[in-house]
Amino acid sequence: MIAVTGATGNVGRALVGRLAAADRPVRALTRDPARAALPAGAEVVRFDPERPAAMFEGATRLFLYVQAVGEQTGALLAAARSAGVRHVVLLSSGIIQEGADETHPIHVMHATAERQVHASGLAWTFLRPNAFALNALQWAPQIRAGDRVRGVFAEGMAAPIHEDDIAAVAERALLDDGHESAVHRLTGPEAISNAGQVQAIGRALGRDLDFHEVPPNQVGPDLFPFAPPHMIPALLKAFAATVGTPPEITDTVHRITGSPARTFARWAEDHSGDFRD
Ligand SMILES: NC(=O)c1ccc[n+]([C@@H]2O[C@H](COP(=O)([O-])OP(=O)(O)OC[C@H]3O[C@@H](n4cnc5c(N)ncnc54)[C@H](OP(=O)(O)O)[C@@H]3O)[C@@H](O)[C@H]2O)c1
Repeated sequence: MIAVTGATGNVGRALVGRLAAADRPVRALTRDPARAALPAGAEVVRFDPERPAAMFEGATRLFLYVQAVGEQTGALLAAARSAGVRHVVLLSSGIIQEGADETHPIHVMHATAERQVHASGLAWTFLRPNAFALNALQWAPQIRAGDRVRGVFAEGMAAPIHEDDIAAVAERALLDDGHESAVHRLTGPEAISNAGQVQAIGRALGRDLDFHEVPPNQVGPDLFPFAPPHMIPALLKAFAATVGTPPEITDTVHRITGSPARTFARWAEDHSGDFRD
């Protein structure tokens, strides 16, 4: 049995879908089972840190999404271990790397989780994805409203990764031998600018979209509909660094899953409905 935290999230839902489709026993943990709408093949159990036995009994492997557990990560890992879990696959972040700003709040969150997993005594695998293609949903309200998209750093570069490619790597790390103590850095297959992403979404929609660059000092929370306002300065600093810097591109998705990582254009086609009214 594989227990999946964050099971209704972007990566978690894709992972549960994959495991259920492969007829693997999977327990999806969610705060609200009634609204989870997960595949019939998944056992859906309430995420309740007060009742860890119900979450982990019979499970040998765990996919861990950090925000779902927060300060309770250590206690939860201990409970998982006593219930029989042996291996944890952690959704961490590419922000953890040599030379990183260790005071950045996202770095602190993921580095803390990695330390707690190390300390748990469980076998572990860390997935460190860089930018999610899903971040492009920040432009969805504007794209639904018109063809002009205001945003920062038109030439900022990334190699965005499809959430289902992260789930595909997680699936292999949970099911196959040889991923213990491995750190998998995950990216999409190619570099693309912010303006290029907006154009690709336009192509998927059959529309001609125009990226209008806004200077960072004129940015308000409306441009980052999903980011907590206190995070915006740190995000702007990180985005500024992507201008003129080629992004890291790894072949990890291809190597582990046997299929090349999907392009941003493919992601935009898969998500075209999210940009339509
Ligand atoms: N965006 C990026 O570019 C990027 C890059 C690298 C790493 N990451 C990391 O990837 C993770 C995001 O993954 P994702 O997009 O799959 O997640 P997500 O869709 O935002 O959320 C995952 C699920 O976790 C549960 N959850 C959320 N907040 C919770 C809380 N406070 N307590 C308990 N459960 C909670 C929710 O499920 P229920 O309501 O069903 O319980 C939610 O559906 C983050 O850790 C992020 O730092 C992101």
